[in-house]
Amino acid sequence: MARTRATLGVDLHLEASGPRLRRGLTDALREAVRGGRLPPGTRLPSSRSLAADLGVARNTVADAYADLVAEGWLTARQGSGTRVADRTVVPPAAGATSGRPAPRGPAHDLRPGTPDLSSFPRAEWLRAARRALAAAPSEALGYGDPRGRPELRTALAGYLARVRGVRADPGRIVVCAGFAHGLRLLCAALRGRGARTVAVESYGLDEHWRLLTGAGLTTAALPFDERGTDTGRLTDAGAVLLTPAHQFPMGVPLHPDRRAAAVDWARRTGGLVLEDDYDGEFRYDRQPVGALQGLDPDHVVYLGTASKSLAPGLRLGWMVLPAGLVGEVTAAKGEMDTSGVLDQLTLAEFIASGAYDRHVRAARTRYRRRRDALVAALAVRAPAIRVTGIAAGLHAVLRLPPGTVGPVLRAAAHQGLALDALTPRYRHADAVAEPLDALVVGYGTPPDHAWSGALEALCAVLPFGENGSGIPFPG
Ligand SMILES: Cc1ncc(COP(=O)(O)O)c(C=O)c1O
Repeated sequence: MARTRATLGVDLHLEASGPRLRRGLTDALREAVRGGRLPPGTRLPSSRSLAADLGVARNTVADAYADLVAEGWLTARQGSGTRVADRTVVPPAAGATSGRPAPRGPAHDLRPGTPDLSSFPRAEWLRAARRALAAAPSEALGYGDPRGRPELRTALAGYLARVRGVRADPGRIVVCAGFAHGLRLLCAALRGRGARTVAVESYGLDEHWRLLTGAGLTTAALPFDERGTDTGRLTDAGAVLLTPAHQFPMGVPLHPDRRAAAVDWARRTGGLVLEDDYDGEFRYDRQPVGALQGLDPDHVVYLGTASKSLAPGLRLGWMVLPAGLVGEVTAAKGEMDTSGVLDQLTLAEFIASGAYDRHVRAARTRYRRRRDALVAALAVRAPAIRVTGIAAGLHAVLRLPPGTVGPVLRAAAHQGLALDALTPRYRHADAVAEPLDALVVGYGTPPDHAWSGALEALCAVLPFGENGSGIPFPG
């Protein structure tokens, strides 16, 4: 039996059938409550009327209601009928078809990749959204330009020129759903041009390498040393993917000679430099390293994202393209495949009003304090560890004594501390450099109130004194 019952404002679609009707009805009602289809306080139809509607004996419904009252899902009161109980009441009896408890995350999370989401500027964002929507013409709510809203492309052009030294013309900007989406679109354009190989850095994100290979391109890793990725070794690739301002995850800026070598290579061969500027705004001790794109906008694609500066859940990114590539990338994107217009307009207003600058400035100050606290704590608690890649960004690389990464990770897991090792997720299979014993620590991730606890948990699993000797690890 599958029926929809509308009584007292309740649409109750129940599927209960077979010889064990009472059990089936009880299960169906319990699922409707548990799944939220029947919210707390909902008044259920009388047993008489539900029975009539379902074509079953009134007692069957009355017994099912009684079972659920006994389990705490429903309440029955003289005069007010049978209602869905508040959630806080009795949990389902053991053995009933109980849902699994929601999995609990780690107590502390120091993996790289996510900024402090609790510091998302909600009030400012809401204000910008209100202003943007009030000012938006009706046509803005249509399918629109596949490159993205002109308001956002104009705001980005001004911001990127001012802050990152990008030579940006709104007509060459394409809004996308984050860096990964932009890279996917570029892969399609590269394939269309007959490219087969994309050179990548020895260290990076395996998600991005998989994205390239998934698009039918081969990846080849360039060597890496203290001056960054060796772009002098570029040969016949169709493009090279680089993180010039802040190598991910090693943290060094690309040496000026190597920036020049990348651009020379692109000019010589017609190849493209894909510049991933994922956290270029967060540089602490010196002026930010300007975008490579400023050296040659006709051979460098600049890719930016709101994932570090605001939140990855926004899924907002942008590309500044060489003029000749705009058509191909837009075609790959398709006419309607664009990020939500309201978020685009909000970001445009957020940037134009100066709220983005203020937010980035405040976030930079907060992250710099965390970075300083991390470096200071490790200097005292684990002086044998070298901390590198700390001039910028939201993560640091901690070089550990050889052979100790495994025990540290096990100790961390034991303490509920989520940590990432440098390998293998971040090291390309073709990398020629020696694998490093290191952790990639994302100090941007915890909310402010949890930061000192996370730092303490980290220090507790890094028992390395002056000479690198370890205290026995727990677990
Ligand atoms: C190296 C690198 N590039 C880009 C991104 C941003 O990716 P997306 O914009 O797709 O969220 C990240 C985020 O973790 C990153 O680490």
